[in-house]
Amino acid sequence: MLSTVLSSGILGVDGVLVEVQVDIGTGIPAIDLAGLPDSAIKEARERVRTAIKNSGYTFPGKRITINLAPADLKKEGASYDLPIAMGILACCGLVPEETLKGALIIGELSLDGSVRKVNGVLSMVHSAFQEGITKFYVPEENREEAALVQGAVVYGVKDLVALVDHLNGLEQISPCVVDWQAGHLDEEEAMPDFADVKGQETVKRAMLIAAAGRHNLLMVGPPGSGKTMLAKRLPSILPDLTFEECIELTKIYSVSGLLSNKNALIRKRPFRSPHHTISATALTGGGRIPKPGEISLAHKGALFLDELPEFSRSALEIMRQPLEEKRVTISRVNGTITYPSDFMLVAAMNPCPCGYFGEERCHCTPSEISRYSGKISGPLLDRMDIQVEAAAIGYEDLQQSRSSMSSAQMKEEVLRVQEIQKKRYETERISYNSELTPALIEVYCPLGQREQALLKTAFDRLQLSARGYHKILKVARTVADLDGSEEILVSHLAEVIQYRNLDRKYRF
Ligand SMILES: Nc1ncnc2c1ncn2[C@@H]1O[C@H](COP(=O)(O)OP(=O)(O)OP(=O)(O)O)[C@@H](O)[C@H]1O
Ligand SMILES: [Mg+2]
Ligand SMILES: [Zn+2]
Repeated sequence: MLSTVLSSGILGVDGVLVEVQVDIGTGIPAIDLAGLPDSAIKEARERVRTAIKNSGYTFPGKRITINLAPADLKKEGASYDLPIAMGILACCGLVPEETLKGALIIGELSLDGSVRKVNGVLSMVHSAFQEGITKFYVPEENREEAALVQGAVVYGVKDLVALVDHLNGLEQISPCVVDWQAGHLDEEEAMPDFADVKGQETVKRAMLIAAAGRHNLLMVGPPGSGKTMLAKRLPSILPDLTFEECIELTKIYSVSGLLSNKNALIRKRPFRSPHHTISATALTGGGRIPKPGEISLAHKGALFLDELPEFSRSALEIMRQPLEEKRVTISRVNGTITYPSDFMLVAAMNPCPCGYFGEERCHCTPSEISRYSGKISGPLLDRMDIQVEAAAIGYEDLQQSRSSMSSAQMKEEVLRVQEIQKKRYETERISYNSELTPALIEVYCPLGQREQALLKTAFDRLQLSARGYHKILKVARTVADLDGSEEILVSHLAEVIQYRNLDRKYRF
């Protein structure tokens, strides 16, 4: 007697259909598992056997052969327990075979028969739905994230008995329906506001430009000048996520095991600020059971690296490729996996080990300073589109009662400029100025004669790389957009050139 149950595995952040085939034949009682399962799946044998017994069913004393196909997919985790158990029960005639047809089953079993939550359910349901599967049996604790897939019929399964009774028509489980529009408002919490920041007008302006064109930003300045404070206010001026973006992001959090039923949809643009002791793997992702890293958890949002030179050199260097490609590829024994990582990088640092470079109290030696800033390699620095100085705050600045712009006003500007970009790039495959390729820069950032002369002078004086040259044009495009100007003018370029000469000042 052979029965087949559909289930799913994970590759990167996408689900891959897996067929669980169970055959019960005559022979010495034993369970054979085939299909290259890892050790976790071998443990599944014991869990499935005990769970079936403890749910009150008789475990067949026959030879059971289980095959998970495709064989070449590396299968991780315990999410095949429930489909294996259902296959066995169907073979024994305890579940009508036809009720399993076309349904996808996912879940880990406890020894007592209850179904435990697993990671990546949204990704599995999302991918399977695109392949035409519409009925899903998932752990009760994962049902809300599964129900995010519009049109999918999702049943949350509490334990083995509940699913067997449902399939036999004894006691129906009601499908999970969630209204994702509701509940949105009461979730909004107050975010810190740029209005709290006194002075630092240049940094606020740089943040506005960075957010509007999704450019990377580096702040350099003495202790207590407000760098961390400013960075924490960035989310308050980023546009809200669209529903599609929410789903894309929630898949990453689902695979990482960071969702709960209460918090099944990620609605806020992420702002991740990992500590500087983070390992390269935790930053970019990977591991024995691969998981997305911080750069993927920051997808569609911002990654804030505070005290940049304190991060390990290997962690910083490994980010270079994902920063350009907006995705990260991780090599594994059998192939590679890819995670999306389209984030804005915001970093902060002091100019020297003591922090007070240029002041009388700084006694850092030139070699101490170069060792400190040398942790940030030229290529990484080159990727920081906007580099800005957060100067020490004076007494008068702190006394001023009126602050220039609130987060609400800045966000309005960001939205306006992003609308301009969306329209301009309608027929291109990009949405933001920061994504302009060299070829597109020629189309969308033409310069007049005076502008060309200015840029040439800067190129020679700042010894710019080709990347630096292109970065100036991309940021200048955003500054011109903020100004409502179709042309990039001398004033726009002059502002942006200032954002590239910090390394000169601080002898990076
Ligand atoms: N521009 C400012 N306006 C108002 N308060 C400020 C400003 N700058 C700093 N502060 C106050 O000082 C505190 C410390 O600032 P913050 O932690 O942002 O400094 P920092 O530049 O990150 O310093 P460090 O280099 O030591 O990390 C803030 O929490 C705030 O109370
Ligand atoms: Mg700080
Ligand atoms: Zn110093």
